Amino acid sequence: MSNLIIFKKKLKKYNKTINIPGDKSLSIRWVLFSSLASGISKAQNLLMSEDVFSAISALKKLGIKVVVNKKFCKIYGKGFNGYKFKKNLTLNARNSGTFGRLILGFLVDSPFHIKIIGDKSLSRRDFKRVADPLTKFGAKFKLNKNRTLPLTIKGSDNLKPIRYKEVRGSAQCKSSVMFAGMKTKGKTTIYAKKSRNHSELFCKHLGLPIKVINKKSYDLIEVNQVKKIKPINYKLPSDISSASFFIVLTALSNKSKLTIKNVNVNSTRVGIITILKRMGVKIYLKNKRKYKGEMIADISIYGSDKIKSINCPSKLNSGAIDEFLLIFLVAAKASGISYFKDLEELNQKESPRLKWGAKILKMIGVKTKLTNSSIKIYGNPDLKIDKKIIIKKFLKDHRVFMTSVIAALSFGGNWKIHDKDSINTSFPSFLKILNSLKK
Ligand code: S3P
Repeated sequence: MSNLIIFKKKLKKYNKTINIPGDKSLSIRWVLFSSLASGISKAQNLLMSEDVFSAISALKKLGIKVVVNKKFCKIYGKGFNGYKFKKNLTLNARNSGTFGRLILGFLVDSPFHIKIIGDKSLSRRDFKRVADPLTKFGAKFKLNKNRTLPLTIKGSDNLKPIRYKEVRGSAQCKSSVMFAGMKTKGKTTIYAKKSRNHSELFCKHLGLPIKVINKKSYDLIEVNQVKKIKPINYKLPSDISSASFFIVLTALSNKSKLTIKNVNVNSTRVGIITILKRMGVKIYLKNKRKYKGEMIADISIYGSDKIKSINCPSKLNSGAIDEFLLIFLVAAKASGISYFKDLEELNQKESPRLKWGAKILKMIGVKTKLTNSSIKIYGNPDLKIDKKIIIKKFLKDHRVFMTSVIAALSFGGNWKIHDKDSINTSFPSFLKILNSLKK
């Protein structure tokens, strides 16, 4: 099957209700917590994507039995110290920064060296940001060229709790340190710049000895040693980051309407909704309810032909960090100049996404001013594309691929987009759901 996809037409008006697969951050966390539980955990609607399968394959190598079928996933946890560490073990995180970084927190007591490898994209990403704090607990690391994969970690049987200041707003760094703290006698204290709080909510739901105090500009998290985790039966809500492709597709259409059911609308994840509302997009959350600590809602979006520019406050960045490529497309159609700043972390993702955002906008004829951490977008409400656009060599970044598809279907033009397989990282049914809007 060809790995290239061609679009020549905009999508016609639709009025639909859709379901989106399970949340990726929650799926990986459920898999990790369940692997350390005492007994069998069962999940429904677990995201069946490569990032989650990478986590499952790695846990199998650590001696954990996992059964996956179309309806559910069962994990046979062997207790909080139940990983089977052995010599010469290599775990492949493939494309998953979340799994690659989070698992390190649970390896700080390994008596042997464990090697972590990843694909081309993950192998250019910074792992020193987690290796540094975990070294303070007593773990030993060897990193490639000092910062990247492949790395080896060897744990310690004399871990010491640490005080750690997380300054990037990285949930991956915060969670990794929390997990190491759970393995360590004594109190680990984390001062964390605001970021997604799924790990904290999981811990609270499980009744683990963790205290979180939300301050105005940071969170104070105290973690004590965990002895036992009970099994977790979980039905995963849908992923707001995957839903966002359809939110933006609808927002940019003239008169379409879309409802997306059962989406995780955790307040640390809905930055895109806040930003788009400020830009004049009509989005409503309905049927809001709580499930095991997480907020869930149905999201309704209405297409709009009047989009306003935004001077985006940086405090909204972390809640929308995976959605900026899409937000840039909305800014491209806004009346006026939009400005997004303090986004240096965007270039640390699966590909340098701030640069890719500017590149795509340039290709579609939108003027931008780019620095290492900011972008100014000169919006054009009459934006229409009538030329050839080719998207390739983007490190197979799933979000670059899917954003390009949304641009093609929203603005027209003749698009050739390579590496269709990249959707398998986070959203294998993306094209199928897109097709269902045509019927
Ligand atoms: C994630 C945290 C974010 C996000 C990533 C998933 C998580 O990364 O970009 O897609 O599940 O913890 P950082 O923690 O590096 O910001």
